[in-house]
Amino acid sequence: MGILLIDLKAQNASLRDSLEDAAIRVLRSGRYGLGDEVDVFQNQFANYCNSSHAIAVNSGTSALHLALLACGIGQGDEVITVAFTFVATIAAIQYTGARPVLVDIEPHAWTIDAEAVRAAVTPRTKAIIPVHLHGRPADMTALAALAKAHGLWLIEDASQAHGALHNGRRVGGIGDIGTFSFYPSKPLGALGEGGAVITNNPELAERIRLLRHWGQDRPNEHALAGFNMRMDAIQAAMLRVKLDHVDRWSAARACHARRYREGLGDSIAYHPTAFAGCSDVHHVFAIEVSDRDRVRAALTAAGIETGIHYPRPVHLQPAYANLGYRRGDFPIAERVSERTLSLPMFAEMTEQQVDEVCRATRQAIRQSESIPDPGIGIEDTKLGDAAETRALSRSAPLPQHAKPV
Ligand SMILES: Cc1ncc(COP(=O)(O)O)c(C=O)c1O
Repeated sequence: MGILLIDLKAQNASLRDSLEDAAIRVLRSGRYGLGDEVDVFQNQFANYCNSSHAIAVNSGTSALHLALLACGIGQGDEVITVAFTFVATIAAIQYTGARPVLVDIEPHAWTIDAEAVRAAVTPRTKAIIPVHLHGRPADMTALAALAKAHGLWLIEDASQAHGALHNGRRVGGIGDIGTFSFYPSKPLGALGEGGAVITNNPELAERIRLLRHWGQDRPNEHALAGFNMRMDAIQAAMLRVKLDHVDRWSAARACHARRYREGLGDSIAYHPTAFAGCSDVHHVFAIEVSDRDRVRAALTAAGIETGIHYPRPVHLQPAYANLGYRRGDFPIAERVSERTLSLPMFAEMTEQQVDEVCRATRQAIRQSESIPDPGIGIEDTKLGDAAETRALSRSAPLPQHAKPV
């Protein structure tokens, strides 16, 4: 493949000496679980997020699971989140025994629709989990007001948005709790699995600290029924090296995103955009195209790797059929999932590579539009032709609540 969707080898090569030094330090330390490496990383990450506490865990899914448990969420409770996310957001709610209540995305940034959240609140609702999708902050002003008005926990799934700003504040630190994944491809990625929870609430922090380590407050004293969700020292050491570079990488991706927008042009495809006052860290650069699969095939043929985040919203996944939703329940998530295409995006990309992707994408879209679709299905007919859909994407009036904040 000529141009990768993301090139982790390039990122790690640029830091090779520091990563190797850190790995050797851990190797020689004899401490491979919790300890100094994890403690130092936690402090550094809390500072980075402007938060009082960070608790490092073994994945972003564990971070969400523990955040929910620390808030006392369980059987009989409802947690409102979004249908267009990675399944882990919903899975973590189910692990606690609570019921995930899904809502649609708004059409501007493709993040949770705050007005739909308002409509979904019931006496059983205990928490809202917005997801800062692809690195774009959700409408936290509206969601924080809603959470306050109804006495709900606000848990930010910032797994894709390390360092993104919402009105000058780092995401994850705006609600009661923020959770992060350090899966290798994330804006801050380990060389394996990892995650973290941040909070300014010392009681929540203490509960999460206990829960991740078998509920032990002292060796062999189990105050809570907990889990093994500890971060490894080796991952903390890798993350300590990488944390210093996160903002520089985000800035480089922002340059690529600007170049993509200019190079692709609004006439070609719709790109979801951050709300005013928010920075997008461009974990994923997605466009919306009407004939996604054909465009994708043309790009693959041209040696350009692409991705789809996500081809099916959670409510249409077989594993979550038991939630009782149907096709048509979340029309924006459904339309976007059929049309979204993620283009190559990583800090080390060159301008020439971005230009090459733009050229090939423009050509692929033009070609796909000139070929009549032989197999227009019911859903395609409903959604109209390519030009109409693009116009719809671009001109869809933003509902009031989704106005840039
Ligand atoms: C939005 C979102 N939430 C949660 C997770 C789960 O993180 P992890 O894979 O580290 O468990 C991910 C990771 O893919 C994610 O993208």
